Amino acid sequence: MTEHVIVTDADGIRTIRMNRPDKKNALTLAMYEAMTAALEGANADDSVRCVLIAGVPGAFSAGNDRFLKAAESTDGFNRTALRFLPALVRCNKPMVAAVSGVAVGVGTTMLFHCDFVVAGSDAFFSTPFVSLGLIPEAASSLLAPRLMGQRRAFEFLVMGHPLNATQAKEFGIANIVVAPEDVDTEGLKAAREIAALPAGAVALSRALTRGATDELLARIDQEAKIFSERLNSPEAKAAFEAFFARKR
Ligand code: COA
Repeated sequence: MTEHVIVTDADGIRTIRMNRPDKKNALTLAMYEAMTAALEGANADDSVRCVLIAGVPGAFSAGNDRFLKAAESTDGFNRTALRFLPALVRCNKPMVAAVSGVAVGVGTTMLFHCDFVVAGSDAFFSTPFVSLGLIPEAASSLLAPRLMGQRRAFEFLVMGHPLNATQAKEFGIANIVVAPEDVDTEGLKAAREIAALPAGAVALSRALTRGATDELLARIDQEAKIFSERLNSPEAKAAFEAFFARKR
């Protein structure tokens, strides 16, 4: 697997920690694979009552590693990265996220699938898909308007205006805002509270409040098809070239 994702189980809580601090937790294919396996494993493990997704201080995740496309085939990207998104939808355990620092791209859109989100006051949420010539993914095109209303979703997902922690709470992305150093503790506290509830009643109530998974999976497929096409678009190519030019 990879040392960039650390999975630990304790007291009914599976913690999936993205751990690539030098790259702000930009997600590689190996990280996607590890996170997918951890989520699928949680489904099959009765001892897991809640999943906690966490990052490192200052970085929840900077989103897709921008070098993915250069290093891997588009097919490889689709098979691996995009398997993570249905795994989020199919996860049958409550998911808590503990967000410190940057949450960019899929670093934010994965949060739409979480049931409780703790944000540090240093958190920064951004979905720059459109400026990269791409489109929103992870069923965010469906979930964001539901959560915050279409106009706010347009401002966030299409215009790409970033949100700080207070704004993210106002937009419904975060449940609570805490001091950056308390993010992990508060995430764990929420996960423990959920894990202590009757698991059957939690699962049934959760399924009822989340609505039909088929609709989410269909939207992920629809977005993925367009996203894939967009990766090869002149607009996306120009954005990637500009990124690589800056890195030189
Ligand atoms: N893919 C690959 N590497 C990334 C990355 C990404 N998505 N995001 C950050 N990194 C790397 C940087 O290249 C840098 O590496 P280096 O030190 O080897 O040059 C390191 O992580 C730290 O990033 P830096 O930009 O110096 O940190 P910052 O705190 O100033 O800014 C971000 C953090 C996340 C706001 C900024 O890095 C950024 O905008 N990254 C791109 C995010 C993105 O567009 N994601 C895709 C969305 S669809």
